[in-house]
Amino acid sequence: MQQYREPPDFGDKTFRVALVNITNACNLKCTHCFIYRDGNPNSTRDKMDDDTMLYQLKKLKEKHGIEFIYLMGGEPMIREKLVMKAAAIFDSCQVVTNGTYGLPELPGKLVTVSLDGPKEMNDPIRGDGVFDKVKEAVFARDPHDGTEIIVQMVLTAENQHGLEAFIEEVKDWPISGVALTFYVPTKDDDSYLAWEDLRNRDEVLHRVITLKQKYPDLIKANRGTLELMMSDVAIESTGENGEKCPLVGNTLNLYMGDGGEFENTFCCYGNDVDCGRCGTYLAFNAAYKQRCGEQKSPSKEKPKRLRIVG
Ligand SMILES: C[S@@+](CC[C@H](N)C(=O)[O-])C[C@H]1O[C@@H](n2cnc3c(N)ncnc32)[C@H](O)[C@@H]1O
Ligand code: SF4
Ligand code: SF4
Repeated sequence: MQQYREPPDFGDKTFRVALVNITNACNLKCTHCFIYRDGNPNSTRDKMDDDTMLYQLKKLKEKHGIEFIYLMGGEPMIREKLVMKAAAIFDSCQVVTNGTYGLPELPGKLVTVSLDGPKEMNDPIRGDGVFDKVKEAVFARDPHDGTEIIVQMVLTAENQHGLEAFIEEVKDWPISGVALTFYVPTKDDDSYLAWEDLRNRDEVLHRVITLKQKYPDLIKANRGTLELMMSDVAIESTGENGEKCPLVGNTLNLYMGDGGEFENTFCCYGNDVDCGRCGTYLAFNAAYKQRCGEQKSPSKEKPKRLRIVG
């Protein structure tokens, strides 16, 4: 029997959620992308062959009890066959793709396609012609194949103006919904993408809440989570350095590191992140669920500043 390289030792902890960067390669150069930041494992020279990766994913799944995995990159669909095989290992998974290689058919599983605004806003961020290519891929698929397709927009200080126009554009597409998340900056990020002061982001959160009221089924965000992201309380779910973040230490981040070995980064968004200005819906949603769980449990004190409005 063929011997494969064993995965690195990530301790004995249970990680119910993991992510894996299938490849560090990507055909796009999105302006906001965290993957290619300094200090992250991201060299395209570092790769793992298909069989070794599948072997290591199975071993890590067994050891850490992984129930859900994000298949990401780089662009995971550059290695489509590997994506399909890796997806089959896990009961639940989500492929996150730029959509330019077509969308995988994965009945019962989730595929998130990234677009960052209407065409005139998306293409300067993601590349010329990308919006039309992705739209074509979304419409070309069989809407009854059982794959759940979500379109995801990352809101930045630059593209937030296009939010409503984007929703109007995609609302009748054959998709299950739209995920809205916010830019995650690095600590020294003073670029046009980041909100220097989180108070300036609140207005955009209010607009997302309004859209949620208008399109409750389409917008995949809940109001309680969006309210935890508001500037007066956001730090309570993250901490200045991730010390309160529900994802830190609970998600196994399998980046492709030196010599094609998996490396577990500090955050799913890499090693250099400004938690005090974190915009990831996922972290706040996990915090929201935690707090809801605490509220239900009679043995625990009610969270003091939670505002769940509906
Ligand atoms: C890094 S990409 C990898 C998968 C694939 N290439 C894609 O673009 O969907 C995963 C998701 O992270 C988002 N993203 C990239 N940089 C980000 C940042 N700095 N803050 C928040 N989200 C970011 C992308 O827009 C995309 O939706
Ligand atoms: S397509 Fe994804 S991985 Fe590639 S540059 Fe854009 S955000 Fe980054
Ligand atoms: S997800 Fe957590 S660790 Fe990552 S930037 Fe946000 S708060 Fe920090």
